[in-house]
Amino acid sequence: MHYFLYHAGELYCEEVPVLKIIEKFGTPLYIYSGKTIRRHFRVFDSAFAEIKHLTCYSVKANSNLAILALLGREGAGADIVSGGELYRALKAGIPPHKIVFSGVGKTEEEIELALRAGILMFNVESLEELALLGEIAKKLKIKAPFALRANPNVDPKTHPYISTGLRKNKFGIPEEEILSAYIKFSENPYLEPLGLDAHIGSQLTTLSPFVDAVKRLRMLYEDLLSHGFSLKYLDVGGGLGIPYDQEEPPLPEEYSSALIRELKGLETTLILEPGRVIVGNAGILVTKVLYTKSNREKNFVIVDAGMNDFIRPSLYQAYHKIIPVLDRDEGQIVADIVGPVCESGDFFAKDRKIPRVRRGDYLAIMGAGAYGFVMSSNYNSRPRPPEVLVEGDQIYLIRRREDIADLVALEEIPPIYS
Ligand code: LLP
Repeated sequence: MHYFLYHAGELYCEEVPVLKIIEKFGTPLYIYSGKTIRRHFRVFDSAFAEIKHLTCYSVKANSNLAILALLGREGAGADIVSGGELYRALKAGIPPHKIVFSGVGKTEEEIELALRAGILMFNVESLEELALLGEIAKKLKIKAPFALRANPNVDPKTHPYISTGLRKNKFGIPEEEILSAYIKFSENPYLEPLGLDAHIGSQLTTLSPFVDAVKRLRMLYEDLLSHGFSLKYLDVGGGLGIPYDQEEPPLPEEYSSALIRELKGLETTLILEPGRVIVGNAGILVTKVLYTKSNREKNFVIVDAGMNDFIRPSLYQAYHKIIPVLDRDEGQIVADIVGPVCESGDFFAKDRKIPRVRRGDYLAIMGAGAYGFVMSSNYNSRPRPPEVLVEGDQIYLIRRREDIADLVALEEIPPIYS
């Protein structure tokens, strides 16, 4: 569900013609719909209304300050994985007591920053990390609330690059080592065991892996309680998928019912870390057709956005719908839609049936709100695109286009070469 719809053959974001935004800011260009993000958050969060819970939006999905501020106002907390994300979340007004810090490779500096900020808890991914957290907490004389991230060895049946809950993945601590780890560190008065955590993967389109993981987490949680640990939070991570193509992922209410059923009778506050389901379909990447060409085998549509701007198709062979900004109804072609970057992997679609396009036409790559701009780079010395947020009939530039000077702003030629 989203608010990118055609009116009389012209694509709109909410009440604004996409063409109007293009005229103002050029292409390539990310456009987000505030109303869509809000709606997704509300539907997701209210699906858990009957139990104690905290929805910590997963900042990595889209970390623009404006989007974090929007979600913060809706009552969202944040799931962060770096000092940079901590900085963004706090700057956007998300209170520290609603922030959880995940990730396998937190540095000393990051841990110290988060401790000083007073975050809700650290989702700890190894015994060495827990030992370090204990040392830093002792040094700062600040009690460190933590949850261990269990690796429940559940197959999320998603793309291997975004599966995280299997033993072969780098994430979490094996289930059978969790209890002994809590016991081992119970001596340190500066470590406060506050919860238990897991995250099994992203873009899950069925409920059963979530249910399997929660069943195991509940057993572990109760085991910990019976050993005297007074845990308060059960963090089940994120991962709920969205429809990019023909997928039919569970609805938030189906997801919540399944979890709530599994947790019946357990005294805890559930933490959820949704990313994609909140912002994925709330963003598009608009791009201009630079050239078209054909050889005996294929048609190519060459556009002004590249894999550096949006890498999901190249990296995960991800499917994203591509639709024209102006639908002229001139028949269809089958083409590869490719970018200007010097790599054969620089494509947005292969052998895709799309409306016939000409040089100068605009295309919208749908479902680009999550893991879009945040994964962009300057590869091929391409300045990154701007981000625009629409609210009703209002257009807000929430990140300006990078310019050529930005590309070299951090670089220096040693005097010996000049
Ligand atoms: N919590 C943790 C600990 C995570 O690692 C992630 C995502 C999330 C929550 C949010 O997951 P979501 O609800 O968005 O599925 N770049 C990939 C996705 C990587 C996901 C990494 N972790 C993509 O474009 O598909």
